[in-house]
Amino acid sequence: MFKDKVVVVTGSVQGIGKRTAEMLAEKGAKVVVNSRTKTKVDATVEEFSQKGFDVLGLTGDVSNYDFCEELKTQTVAKFGRIDYLINNAGLAAKGSISDSEANVFEKMYAVNVLGSLYPTMALLPEIKQTKGGILFISSMAGIIGLPSYAAYSGTKRSIVSLAESIKNELVDDEVYVGVNYPGFTENDAQKEILSPSGEANVMVKREDVKVEPLDKTVNKIIRQIEKRKFRSYSSYKGRALQTMYRLFPTLSLSILKMNRRKIMDMQ
Ligand SMILES: NC(=O)c1ccc[n+]([C@@H]2O[C@H](COP(=O)([O-])OP(=O)(O)OC[C@H]3O[C@@H](n4cnc5c(N)ncnc54)[C@H](OP(=O)(O)O)[C@@H]3O)[C@@H](O)[C@H]2O)c1
Repeated sequence: MFKDKVVVVTGSVQGIGKRTAEMLAEKGAKVVVNSRTKTKVDATVEEFSQKGFDVLGLTGDVSNYDFCEELKTQTVAKFGRIDYLINNAGLAAKGSISDSEANVFEKMYAVNVLGSLYPTMALLPEIKQTKGGILFISSMAGIIGLPSYAAYSGTKRSIVSLAESIKNELVDDEVYVGVNYPGFTENDAQKEILSPSGEANVMVKREDVKVEPLDKTVNKIIRQIEKRKFRSYSSYKGRALQTMYRLFPTLSLSILKMNRRKIMDMQ
């Protein structure tokens, strides 16, 4: 299905995004990798090229609309078309609302929300022509608002609403739109998290929660696009949480309240 398709994966020089681009390239896709850090983009292009993949690297910030137009122009110049966009670039943040500075919310809404919306707007005319698709990467934290993760939960839930709106707008264009909810997934050693003051710190390896293997999460993402499913979860926990919250919202929030300390103390 992905043979010779052109797939743009934002934030794809490490973690889930990089492995997604790599697995798609193994299936024959031409991939565009991106991040804000030129050295990381160049290293990923070098690594993928050595594996024989057809790859284009574009350094830039997806929360900047002009860069997203550039992303489209350069992708079309190199590959002639765009089939799929995976809005993967995202920031993590943790801190109580009382401790957090406004700049944390500004950064989080810029990258996680506008950074998914702007590539969608810029690339959509091309995706309409190929009747391809757009996948938004949310999180289990986008299903229910977690204490101490207001910026993360708020932004990840916001892109679910965006995906729902866009999905129905694009039915007649036969453009696929989906939203994926990864659970805790093994981290890249360089993954960062914003502190309440807005400083980016390398995230410590998670020892206090069970994490999903990276390939399991990525396989779910790829299967979802292949099946053109609107929602998909990397583990049964995501599906269970979604079902529970839909059917029993008050009970779900009470259980969350009982477990608040555990969540707030998570690394
Ligand atoms: N890992 C998990 O457990 C988990 C769970 C649920 C959801 N998710 C979601 O899955 C996605 C990937 O997660 P991950 O853990 O693989 O993240 P990650 O290791 O932090 O990688 C994110 C990538 O996005 C890039 N990026 C950040 N801001 C950007 C921007 N404005 N423009 C372009 N690139 C940008 C970063 O590179 P630069 O800093 O060089 O730009 C980085 O390469 C995120 O949306 C995340 O919220 C992850």
